[in-house]
Amino acid sequence: MSILFDQNTKSFHLSNSRVSYIFRLAGGMYPMHVHWGRRVRAVNDELLTRRTIWTEETFSLNETSLDFLPMECPTFAGDLREGMIHVIHENGMSALLLEYESHQVISGKPELAGLPSARGEDAQSLLLTLRDKVSGVAVELCYTVYEDVDVIARSARIINDGKTPVTVDKALSACVDFEGCDYNLTTLSGAWVRERQLYTRPLVPGDQGTSSTRGASSVQTSPFMMLTSKDATEQTGEAFGFALCYSGGFEASVHVDQHFISRAQIGIQPFNFSWRLLPGESFQTPEAYLCYSCEGIGGMSRNFHALVHRHITTGKYAHSTRPILINNWEATYFDFNEEKLLKLARVARRAGIDLFVLDDGWFGHRDAANSSLGDWYDDKNKLPGGLAGLSEKIHKLGLMFGLWIEPEMISVDSDLYRQHPEWCIHVPGYPRIEYRDQLVLDLSRDEVRDYVVDAIIAALRRGRVDYVKWDMNRFINMWGSTNLPASRQQELGHRYILGVYDMMRRITGAFPNVLFESCAGGGGRFDLGMMCFMPQAWCTDDTDAWMRCRIQHSTSLVFPPSTMGAHVSAVPNHQTGRTAPLATRAAVAMSGTYGYELDLTKLPRKEIEEIRVLNKRLREIQTVLLYGTYYRLLSPYEGNEAAWMSVTKDKREAVVTHVYAQAVPNMKDKLLRLTGLDPTLTYRDDVTGKTYGGDELMYYGIILHKPWGDYMSQQWHLVAID
Ligand code: GLA
Repeated sequence: MSILFDQNTKSFHLSNSRVSYIFRLAGGMYPMHVHWGRRVRAVNDELLTRRTIWTEETFSLNETSLDFLPMECPTFAGDLREGMIHVIHENGMSALLLEYESHQVISGKPELAGLPSARGEDAQSLLLTLRDKVSGVAVELCYTVYEDVDVIARSARIINDGKTPVTVDKALSACVDFEGCDYNLTTLSGAWVRERQLYTRPLVPGDQGTSSTRGASSVQTSPFMMLTSKDATEQTGEAFGFALCYSGGFEASVHVDQHFISRAQIGIQPFNFSWRLLPGESFQTPEAYLCYSCEGIGGMSRNFHALVHRHITTGKYAHSTRPILINNWEATYFDFNEEKLLKLARVARRAGIDLFVLDDGWFGHRDAANSSLGDWYDDKNKLPGGLAGLSEKIHKLGLMFGLWIEPEMISVDSDLYRQHPEWCIHVPGYPRIEYRDQLVLDLSRDEVRDYVVDAIIAALRRGRVDYVKWDMNRFINMWGSTNLPASRQQELGHRYILGVYDMMRRITGAFPNVLFESCAGGGGRFDLGMMCFMPQAWCTDDTDAWMRCRIQHSTSLVFPPSTMGAHVSAVPNHQTGRTAPLATRAAVAMSGTYGYELDLTKLPRKEIEEIRVLNKRLREIQTVLLYGTYYRLLSPYEGNEAAWMSVTKDKREAVVTHVYAQAVPNMKDKLLRLTGLDPTLTYRDDVTGKTYGGDELMYYGIILHKPWGDYMSQQWHLVAID
C-alpha cells in the first residue's frame, strides 16, 4: 500500500497490491481523475495528459473548459455539470474555483468530527488541500487506502478561512468521473417489508441514481450504488461499488455528460440541506467507500464485507458468535403480561435459546402504537415487578435479557409531550403530522438528547439488559426546529443525525458488554453509519423465508451475514400468508444473526425439539456462516431458486444453502456448482456423512433434489477431512 506524488507529472498514485487510484493536478492546479481500477505500476506522461489535457505550461482556463474534464472535486465554476461542493457567498453569489494548495500523506486516517467512520489501522491517507483564492474557502479532501481491502475511503472538509460567512449548499463526499458510459448501474430500492430490492439498468446520457429525502437512509432506498462492466457476473468482470457511512438523507447519482463521461457521486442529500459557516469554522462530510473488484460483483461484496468486519464494526460482539434470541413481537405484539412472557421464556429455554428480548409495549401505558414514546418508565400493569423484576426472573431461567427501545420518538399521548410539546420537530402553524401515531424528537437540542440518554440509560440499568434493539419507526415529513435561527433551519436534517450519533455514542459507550441491534421499522436504516455503533441491524420486518432470500441476497452486496438480523417466524407468515417448512425458515435465517419471533408456547413438542436440534446445529456452523467468505451462487431475482455459501479463510469448512421457491411438476434432480473451496481437499458433508472432492464440488457440482412442495431447502456443512 502506498501513496506517491510524482513531482514531474504532478500526479498522485494511491495503490495497494491489487488496485490503483490515480489523479493528477492538471495545470499544476486542478485535481483530475485518471484511473481507478486494477493496479498499474504507473501511468506515463502521454496517457496522463490525454485525459487531463493541461501541463503547467499549456494551462489556460479560457482554452479548454473544465466542463469537459474529469474532476476529482467539481464545483460550479467552469464545470457546468452537477458538482460535489457548492458554496454561496455572503453577497448571495456562488462560485468556487478550487486550486491545489498543499498535500500531506499520513499513516492511519483522521477521525471525522461528530461522524462515525471506518478505522484506519494499517492504512495511509492523503490530505489534499484545495483553495478558492478569492473567498479564502478551502476544501480538504481525504483519501485513505488500505492494504487488506480494496476500498478507498473518501471524505471532504470545507473550511471557511475567509472574512465573511458562507453557506455550504451542497457537500457530497466523493466524485469519480469515469471515462465512457459502458456500464450497468445497480441500486437498491423497495418499501417497508420489501427493502433493498435489486435494480440494474444500463447507463444512459443524463441523470440517474438513487436518493432519500426522508431524513434517514430509509426502507425505500439505500446509500449504495454499483457500476459494473457490461460483462460482469458474480465471479468475473469489473465492479465499482459506492457506499456511504451515513444514516440520513443521501444522494448517489451518475450523470453521463455530452462526451459520455460518467460522473458518479455520493454524499448527503442536497435537498433541504445547507450549512452556514462562519469565518474559522469547518464542515465535515460523511465518509464514502469506493470499492473496486476485477473479480465480479462477488469480489466487490467480499471486499465490502472485509471492510465491515475489519474496520467498521467494534465491540465485544463484533467478531464473535451471537446469542440465539427469541423476540416476543410477532408472538404477542402489544398484548402481553409478565406471566405470558415468562411462559414464552420457559419454552425458549427448553428449546436451547440464549436470549429473551422484550419488544415494544413495556413502558408508559403503551397497549397500542399511539402512546407513551418518551415515557421510559415501566408499565407496572403489565410488569408488576417492573423491568428489574422481569429481568431477574428471565436471568434465573438461565436466559439473557434484551429490551426494545425507540429513543428518538415522542407520542402526543405521553407525559413527555405534555411537559415539552416544543421538543418535537415541527413547523409552527402547520399540523404536526403523525406517522405511526408518533412525532420525532428534535435531537439537535442538547437538553432533549440529555433527557433521552439519561432515561434510556436508567431503563437499561434497571433491566440489567444484555441486548438492546434500538428502533426508529418513522421518517421526518416536515423540517423545523424552534431552537434554530432562520439561517440555520436547513441544517436540521444533518444536525438530527449528528444528534442520533451523539446519543448512540453515549448509550453504547455506557454498556460495553451489551449487544446492540439497530432497527428502523424493519430495515429503514441499514447503513454503514449504524454499523459503526451496532454490529447488527434488523434486516426487514419481513420474516417470509423466500422474501428474505431476496432481501438478504441484495443486502449482501455490501453487508456480511454477521450484520443481518434474521428470525424464524410463524406460519402462515404474518407478512405474506405463505407457509414454508421450519427447516427452510431456519436455513435462511441462519445466514444472519439468528433468532425466533413466534409464539413457541403454541408449537407442538415435536417442533420445539426440532428447534432445539436446529439451535445445536447452528452453534456448530455459526462462525462460518457469520464470518466466512461469502459467495452468492444463484440469484432469487433471476428465477425460482436461491443459493449461497460461506467458506472459512483456510477453505477447510463451508456451509452451503439452497432454496427452491415453487415446486414445478416433472422436475429432475439438478446440480449446483460450488465455489471458493480447495480443489485438492476432500470434504465430508456433516449432514449426510457423504464425501466429495473440492474439485468435484466446484467443477461438477452437488445434487439438488427435486423439491416436493414449495419453499424446500437443502443445507450442507462441508468439512475437510484430509
Ligand atoms: C418496528 C420493528 C418491529 C417491532 C415494532 C414494534 O416495526 O421493525 O420489529 O419492533 O417496530 O413496534
